[in-house]
Amino acid sequence: MTEKNLKELFHDTLKDIYFAEKKILSALPKMAKAAQSSELRAAFEKHERETEEHVTRLEQVFADLDETPRGKTCDAILGIIAEGQEVMKEFKGKPALDAGLLAAAQAVEHYEIARYGTLKTWAAELGLTQSATLLETTLGEEKKTDEALTELAQSGVNQHAEAA
Ligand SMILES: [Fe+2]
Repeated sequence: MTEKNLKELFHDTLKDIYFAEKKILSALPKMAKAAQSSELRAAFEKHERETEEHVTRLEQVFADLDETPRGKTCDAILGIIAEGQEVMKEFKGKPALDAGLLAAAQAVEHYEIARYGTLKTWAAELGLTQSATLLETTLGEEKKTDEALTELAQSGVNQHAEAA
C-alpha cells in the first residue's frame, strides 16, 4: 500500500471513530440515567467526561492532518447503540437491566479499542508522532473503562441480575 493510500484510509477511519465518539457522547447520559446501580451510573458518568476528551483529541488528530473534523456514518456503532437501547426498553425495571447495560457498554468499548489500536499503529507508520501519542492515550482510557466494567460485572451487577 502506498503512503498516500494509507493516509486516506487513516483519514477515513478517523471520520468513522469521530462519528462514533459523538454518538457515544449522546448515548452515555441515557445509559447513566437508566442504570440502577450507583456504581454503574458513576462509571458511565466518568466515561462521559473522558469521551469529551476523546472527541477533543480526535480534533487535534484532524488538525495534524490539516483536515477539518468531520464524521462519517458508522453503521457498526449505530448497531451497537441500538442494541443497548433495545435492552433499556425490554429490561426496564427488571433485575437484569444493569447487566444488559454493562454488556452494551463493553461492546462499545471493544469497538473503540479495535479502532484506536489500528489508528495508533497507522499514525506511527505515517510518521504522525503527536497523533500516535494522542490515540494511544485514548486507547489506554478505553481499555481502563473496559476493565472497570468487567470489575463491576464481577462485583455484583451480574449476581443481582441472577438473584430475582
Ligand atoms: Fe472513547
